[in-house]
Amino acid sequence: MIIARRAEDARAVCRRWRAAGEKIGFVPTMGALHAGHRALLARARRECDRLVASIFVNPLQFGPREDFTRYPRPIRRDMAMLAAEGADLLYRPRVEALYPEQFETVISVLRSSRPLEGASRPGHFDGVTTVVAKLLGAVEPDLLYLGQKDAQQAIVIVRMVRDLDLGVRVVVCPTVRESDGLALSSRNGYLTPRQRAWAPRLYRALKAVAGALRSGEIESASDSEALLRTLLDSGPGKLDYAAVRDARTLAAPGPGGPWLLAVAYRLGSTRLIDNVAVRPAAKGRGGFGRK
Ligand code: PAJ
Repeated sequence: MIIARRAEDARAVCRRWRAAGEKIGFVPTMGALHAGHRALLARARRECDRLVASIFVNPLQFGPREDFTRYPRPIRRDMAMLAAEGADLLYRPRVEALYPEQFETVISVLRSSRPLEGASRPGHFDGVTTVVAKLLGAVEPDLLYLGQKDAQQAIVIVRMVRDLDLGVRVVVCPTVRESDGLALSSRNGYLTPRQRAWAPRLYRALKAVAGALRSGEIESASDSEALLRTLLDSGPGKLDYAAVRDARTLAAPGPGGPWLLAVAYRLGSTRLIDNVAVRPAAKGRGGFGRK
């Protein structure tokens, strides 16, 4: 596995591969790799000739009171995992190289970055889109692999790629979960045993509401949001949001779906997010106690 710490080195390697007609798949990460990342890497490995990963804990996407400094950085373990997954190149830029003092450009996706995470974490998506654009500029991949776990992030990045004609195909991979349903996250390690025991309730609540929508037991987005709140409000932490949106654009959900049910929940100092997509039952079909 080649390790590049400078954009021009990563670019030179990737350009050589592309000139030889090889298809490049790219998996950007912040490290602390787990089976969720591994699923993205394995899929890119299968579908492309060259597998490129990046590890960069991006200060631009963390708020001033967020976990940038305590974010886990097990770099040796991560590099071993990337090598085991067959990565050809790891791009691991230094903060000062990516954001020199004179840096002054930000990419903002104006609409889809606004609700949900965007409302709770001002500036977060500007940081994400700016760094992803920079990473894409260095690697120039054919395919970009992202996880459904961060559904809004994927929507915002797809929008940026289209709006700026970045010419990369985005592949969104399903969320990988623990056997009890908790979505894998580099932040799960922050949880105390009691918090960890409660955390799978997020997915359980999402599944329950998705099931009720599918069966027609509930029909509206507002009833779905209310049910999510009921299911989660009594928990040991604080519900940040429970929202139902159009799964493709995050606009207000229209009839027929697909809808994205998304939650963010604070357990102590740890903030967890999760989501499921669902197509609600067509009106007049199914439903309980209805003719
Ligand atoms: P990070 O949180 O390290 O995640 C890297 C990629 O792995 C993202 O596309 C994310 O959606 C995906 N991922 C994380 N957990 C997953 C899970 N349980 N199942 C499936 N995929 C999962 O997301 C980021 O880093 C950063 O914002 C980044 C895009 C690298 C920009 O800094």
